[in-house]
Amino acid sequence: MSYDLVVIGTGPGGYVCAIRAAQLGLKTAVVEKRATHGGTCLNVGCIPSKALLHASEAFEEASKHFADLGVIVGEPKLDLRKMMAFKDEGVAGNTKGVEFLLKKNGVDSYRGTGRLAGAGRVEVIAEDGGNQLLETRNVVIATGSDVTRLPGVAIDEKVVVSSTGALELANVPKKLVVIGAGVIGLELGSVWRRLGSEVVVVEYLDRVLPGMDGEVGKQFQRILSKQGITFKLSSKVTGVDVGKKGATVTVEPAAGGEAEKIQADVVLVAIGRVPYTDGLGLETVGVQTDNKGRIQTDSHYATNVTGIYAIGDVIAGPMLAHKAEDEGVAVAEILAGQSGHVNYGVIPNVVYTFPEVASVGRTEEELKKDGIRYNAGKFPFTANGRAKVNHTTDGFVKILADADTDRVLGVHIVGADAGNLIAEVAVAMEFGASAEDVARTCHAHPTLTEAVKEAALAVGKRALHI
Ligand code: FAD
Ligand code: NAI
Repeated sequence: MSYDLVVIGTGPGGYVCAIRAAQLGLKTAVVEKRATHGGTCLNVGCIPSKALLHASEAFEEASKHFADLGVIVGEPKLDLRKMMAFKDEGVAGNTKGVEFLLKKNGVDSYRGTGRLAGAGRVEVIAEDGGNQLLETRNVVIATGSDVTRLPGVAIDEKVVVSSTGALELANVPKKLVVIGAGVIGLELGSVWRRLGSEVVVVEYLDRVLPGMDGEVGKQFQRILSKQGITFKLSSKVTGVDVGKKGATVTVEPAAGGEAEKIQADVVLVAIGRVPYTDGLGLETVGVQTDNKGRIQTDSHYATNVTGIYAIGDVIAGPMLAHKAEDEGVAVAEILAGQSGHVNYGVIPNVVYTFPEVASVGRTEEELKKDGIRYNAGKFPFTANGRAKVNHTTDGFVKILADADTDRVLGVHIVGADAGNLIAEVAVAMEFGASAEDVARTCHAHPTLTEAVKEAALAVGKRALHI
């Protein structure tokens, strides 16, 4: 078969790229080795984790908060199998949706491992060993990422699990040790704590969520500690010994010192993800990677080999589904002769715990490092009417605006629904808005969005409700 474009991998980057390319009239095929489309995100990432976060939050609400609202339901019981079935149903609905969309847009699907087989050729190797050769003018590599392994610690997905195993535990572990206080550790740590686990998070650095605004990290850690998660910061895991029942985790201070042993039923390794290029045959065509194994691309997603492009987790930048999707659209448009583009300065980042954490743009630490003068406006949810009545007063909105131009440079939110609240400021930033623009926009009352408006007012030192 001969195509304008073959996309390898149908995660959020690959499937969106294929749909956009087909919309633009390119004869397009996708190659996917997994049984279902949707990649890490839909199968073992964003979607199943959000399903469990939603269900476990409902369980916690029913256990701890319903009575405050005058809703008496008695002691809720956990049916973990049912909860997992709810999650699986959500995954199936989404992956089938992608299959439908690919068909609807006339994209051909090939099941198997895609391998670069020389200029303009992709070999599809099926699970039974059979193979097919596709001729194509262009290839987009969208093969995503895989779990970072901790040297000397074998993941069996039963006792020592990655995020994939942590999304399908058969029982609630009495004690869960999480290695890494990043997004996965805190989201999945929250799930299992809500369902009854004692959760200890071991983090190498002296803070949680590195890369996010420092003040956000501090407050968020305090909130999670209040919820019952224990943190061991500035600590490294030097060994995990799996026994007959559970595992013994050896933890040392990061700077060196006396080791301690923690007994755990399950250990979750969540120390990051690495680009996935196994079996792709990059070497056969000479596609260059960097020192982290990421495929190197220019600003048009082109690799060093003519006709081969790459997007998503397998290239540099934040490993986020929406970043991969936007790159998919951009590269499809570039291949169709348009001017596809992604604004990397305005990519929101959300942690879907309770409360949520959301940020877009620059952190205070980054602005200070770059010597950019800014004004900060901060507004706590304790002063927001809707948050007060809902009993969701943990957290704040912080807006950072250029001291000279008032242009919004970064927004950081800890609070209920922060992931939705961040969208309005992302749009504002895309339009080059000032804090004054956000402050003068009428926000509905009573909503949590008023905290965003108040933070914008606070940039000019004229918040109304604090
Ligand atoms: P992937 O989604 O990884 O897809 C790559 C696909 O390529 C896979 O289906 C793979 O099977 C296939 N493939 C690989 N090699 C080949 C080959 N040679 N031939 C054929 N097929 C191949 N991001 C968010 O934005 N929000 C979230 O809430 C979120 N939650 C997450 C939760 C977890 C637990 C995890 C692990 C990740 C989460 N992420 C989240 C990150 C998100 O999943 C990734 O950023 C996103 O999936 C990257 O998309 P991608 O298209 O680049 O790659
Ligand atoms: P991460 O990079 O977010 O966090 C890893 C953490 O582990 C860091 O805090 C790091 O300092 C720590 N660490 C590294 N080595 C360690 C060691 N040896 N001992 C102790 N701590 C160690 O990575 P994570 O949580 O695994 O997630 C991977 C990626 O998946 C994220 O970067 C994110 O891009 C994506 N993701 C996004 C989500 C979202 O958008 N809500 C949800 C889940 C994942």
